[in-house]
Amino acid sequence: MADSELELHTGRRNYEEVLKQQQDEEEHKTATTIEQARVEEAVLKFYRLCDKEADPTLLRPKHIQFLKKSITYLSEAYECLDCSRPWMCFWILHSLAILEERLENEEYSKIVGFLAKCQSPTGGFGGGPGQYPHLASTYAAVNALCTIGTQEAYDVIDRKNLKRFLSSLRGEDGSFSMHENGEVDIRGAYCALAAAKLANVYTPDMFKTTAEWIAKCQTWEGGFGGCPGMEAHGGYAYCALATLVMLGKTELCHLPELLRWIVNKQMRLEGGFEGRTNKLVDGCYSFWQGGAFPLIAAILKQGKPAGSFNTSNHWLFNQEALQEYILICCQNPHGGMLDKPGKNRDIYHTCYALSGLSIAQNSPVKSIIGMRHTNRVEVIHPIYNVEYHAARKAQEYFSTLPIPD
Ligand code: FPP
Ligand code: ZN
Repeated sequence: MADSELELHTGRRNYEEVLKQQQDEEEHKTATTIEQARVEEAVLKFYRLCDKEADPTLLRPKHIQFLKKSITYLSEAYECLDCSRPWMCFWILHSLAILEERLENEEYSKIVGFLAKCQSPTGGFGGGPGQYPHLASTYAAVNALCTIGTQEAYDVIDRKNLKRFLSSLRGEDGSFSMHENGEVDIRGAYCALAAAKLANVYTPDMFKTTAEWIAKCQTWEGGFGGCPGMEAHGGYAYCALATLVMLGKTELCHLPELLRWIVNKQMRLEGGFEGRTNKLVDGCYSFWQGGAFPLIAAILKQGKPAGSFNTSNHWLFNQEALQEYILICCQNPHGGMLDKPGKNRDIYHTCYALSGLSIAQNSPVKSIIGMRHTNRVEVIHPIYNVEYHAARKAQEYFSTLPIPD
């Protein structure tokens, strides 16, 4: 990489000054402001502890060790995720891919065999062997298989039945339910479309009026809620925007309003993102909110809305502040990442904090805080959240196969 394509960051933000400004603004105390003040205090402790001269460092070997152990051993805290086992495969595999760590082929083979057992004979993947198929576990399984990227992994996907399964969950208005007789929300449309596009089973008919349904979920705040009338939230906003991008219908999104909402979700002191207004910072929103920025940049580059060309080499949020939050406040010293200081590490937060770190570093001109060689992580595909080359390779492979009837 040429040096001109990389920005180096040595200095850190003046947290004390930001804190002072915020305290001046806050006069009336509520349960929300008290909780917020507690988090700020905890975060500030970490920022003060991390020597201003020392570089924030990604604990790569520790995270790799934690993730590899999690393939075969998980504590009882994960019991509640027994219906999300393809997710656990994806979180671990994707985190390792972001850290540029590959497993032995034999190990990949075992995971592929497990995911094959989660596939329903009627199409789609369930949360575990024998469980009913579900759109979220289908998205996770397809992402995990594409991350593995071997022929054996691609061959697992029963594309004919996958297409049938996805189509069976479509509502008349273009929305999708998460499973048979299940809840309808934006995740459904995103998971169905992402899996359909990656595995090349997409046809325009399957997603007719889906973009119009999504547009109804944009709220008065500018973000997107899970379905029309629901509160704007980063998780749903990401799903909404990625879906509109995949459908080529981004003109249905009120972009200035979305932009105003989302930039205000980055916390001034913490540097990380909150998921919704007046809530607390959380490491996983580094991706759910941060991941929307490359999509926004792509829309602005096309000149949509009309005349709004953006040629910036950076995303429209403070990329360095997000990296500081992730590297200083969200790393467990023994490996694994977390929501916020004081919380336990887990593989979900490890996956989405690392995904957010990748977004924060990989703007058109890269911006990496700390030691470049220690901290740099792989580029991810912002639409699927699969390591970029793995996503492209999977798309290239599946595009050689005919779309099933
Ligand atoms: C609120 O949690 C969380 C939600 C309302 C949903 C979050 C949605 C996602 C993370 C996106 C899922 C995407 C896919 C692809 C399945 P909370 O009230 O515990 O958290 P908060 O206080 O931070 O809002
Ligand atoms: Zn979280």
